[in-house]
Amino acid sequence: AKKKTILDLYEMKERGEQAVWMVLYDSIFAGYAEAAGMDMVLCGDSLGMMVYGNEGTVPVTMDQCIAHCQGVRKGAPNTYLIGDMPFGAYHISCEDAVKNALRFYKEADVDAIKLEGGVTVADKIRAITDAGMVVFGHIGLTPQSSASMGGFKAQGRTVESAKAIIEDAIAVYKAGARTLLLEGVPEEVCAYVHKMLPIPVYGIGAGADCDGQVILAADALGMFKNFTPKFAKKYAAIAEVATKGMEEYIKEVKGRVFPAPEHKYKVSGDQAEFDKL
Ligand code: KIV
Ligand code: NA
Repeated sequence: AKKKTILDLYEMKERGEQAVWMVLYDSIFAGYAEAAGMDMVLCGDSLGMMVYGNEGTVPVTMDQCIAHCQGVRKGAPNTYLIGDMPFGAYHISCEDAVKNALRFYKEADVDAIKLEGGVTVADKIRAITDAGMVVFGHIGLTPQSSASMGGFKAQGRTVESAKAIIEDAIAVYKAGARTLLLEGVPEEVCAYVHKMLPIPVYGIGAGADCDGQVILAADALGMFKNFTPKFAKKYAAIAEVATKGMEEYIKEVKGRVFPAPEHKYKVSGDQAEFDKL
């Protein structure tokens, strides 16, 4: 299939077709996503947890995000790719934000970048958008600000906090973001924002009343065993399959079953000559 553009995403919204994306970090899984027909892939800064074993996304660097994005692009050359701006990459100044966003385009061939926050990052969204790039907004549960939220907690569950999310949504839209992702909010809040904004609104842990869904491959495919959020559904059990395969491998090597004849190379030519060595 031909790679989608931002216009295709708008047409899908128009048609009422759900856009489906997944978060992954390397060329192998990107290849699976492309083969499966995924509309979009996000190389998320959740790689801080899933790949590097950190507690959260705060320590993730630009260089890590770029390197993983490059892998994803190579594995899924024809899939719409979103690069995730890590904590610190757009918090210092608009100039810094544009510079870092540009790296995703120039070094990792992304189709869009995503950054977290609403009212407080609107100037950065505007600056990146004005430089000709596509920004996906991301509000609600924003893991990079977990310290100020007091952990990874669903947002917008009181009227006051729902109002703040709606204000963030408006700010992100007005700043020029072309789509908006809502994470960890009540379905009613997502439905409200979806109805209010003309741009595609996507959700993760935000219910079904929006233009599409994203989920972490690590959660959806059962790779990550430490924690699964309430909103994730498991479509495969990779952890079990992989562990079982590893147990089998250990058993076969210890038992001298592997490698078997079909896994071995042979010297060609005269065996008698070789035996004389
Ligand atoms: O980094 C990530 O995995 C994300 C998703 C939660 C959308 O930003
Ligand atoms: Na992220």
